[in-house]
Amino acid sequence: MAYRIPLFDLNFDGREAQAAYDTIQSGWISTGPKNELLEQMFREWWGVSYAVSVTNCTSALHLCALVCGLGPGDEVIVPSLTFAASVNSIRYTGATPVFCDIAGPEHINIDPEEVEKLVSPKTKAVVVVHMAGFPARMDALMTVAKRHNLKVIEDACHGPLSEWKGRKLGTIGDCAAFSFFSNKNISTGEGGMFITNNEEMAQKARLLRSHGMTTMSYQRASGHATTYDILALGYNYRMDDIRAAIAIEQLKKLPDDLEARARVRRRYEELLSGVKGVVVPFKGWGEFASNYIFPIVLTQGDAAYRDAVREKLHAAGVQTSVHYPAVHRFSIYRDFPADLPQTEFVTDHEITLPMYAALTEEQLVFIAETLTEALHG
Ligand SMILES: Cc1ncc(COP(=O)(O)O)c(C=O)c1O
Repeated sequence: MAYRIPLFDLNFDGREAQAAYDTIQSGWISTGPKNELLEQMFREWWGVSYAVSVTNCTSALHLCALVCGLGPGDEVIVPSLTFAASVNSIRYTGATPVFCDIAGPEHINIDPEEVEKLVSPKTKAVVVVHMAGFPARMDALMTVAKRHNLKVIEDACHGPLSEWKGRKLGTIGDCAAFSFFSNKNISTGEGGMFITNNEEMAQKARLLRSHGMTTMSYQRASGHATTYDILALGYNYRMDDIRAAIAIEQLKKLPDDLEARARVRRRYEELLSGVKGVVVPFKGWGEFASNYIFPIVLTQGDAAYRDAVREKLHAAGVQTSVHYPAVHRFSIYRDFPADLPQTEFVTDHEITLPMYAALTEEQLVFIAETLTEALHG
């Protein structure tokens, strides 16, 4: 069924199509000049030394885990309230994820105090997910990481251009990953970016992105190299230039898109302020945030009640989602220890309402009224 109000909407127009067409016409469609330009834009816009474009955020996270030197016997602290990729990418290296709780319904990011409790002699790193594009408590988290000599991997895929104390998310830890999946703030279908300020990590990530090869096809085609060596067991995590060209157009639109999303969020906060039984995580947050999604947490009932509320919104043509079904509850993670009361609560009570720049006043009022009716009607 086509929803009256979908969960998200692509911010595409003729520019993305033209950029893809022009790239195809250029005769170079695999990793080349468009990827180089996209990486340069990330370096400049994020104020970061190195950016490596990749196939998706999952591969960027895998590269983060590899350049942090993770492997069998290592433990990595990670939230369970995330998409499975944040956890799976640790396991690709043979390291063991250790699930950590979030702070609570008002702040649905990993809790630094809980992180500290989980640190063991085997702990090598912590993965931070900035939910909806709102920063985790990075002061406390970086202090814990420093005290225990842990690497910090930022899964910043919800937070392009979001800021924490004036710094962009993804530039605070050791390295970070972004996603260009179709429902993300920068959409290319599939795509992603690895960023870091650490030269050694950047070189390793670039090498592993393309089979550990010392040169790429584009360098050879442009006469900068005639041969290559293979230095490490790498992967094919390269993004093609057609997608990079689309990403460039998306990035150019991003500041305006995020301003519009911030207005949508402010209006949501106003409309929901008088609705009993609803917590808006990060309410009143003062810094610039990407607002990738708009999560709310119900204060009453259980998962069945939440699902019934979602069903009423669905019947009214409003698409919703859940961010996230907690990872530790999935079959493949059931044997991993998890004492996560806040995560359990939020995963059972969360509803993600529609969020995109083009949402109108009329649509926002309709969503708020439909939700109020579903809760209290
Ligand atoms: C928090 C988080 N991390 C990682 C990913 C994986 O991104 P990708 O689909 O680009 O691999 C997602 C995707 O939804 C996500 O939401």
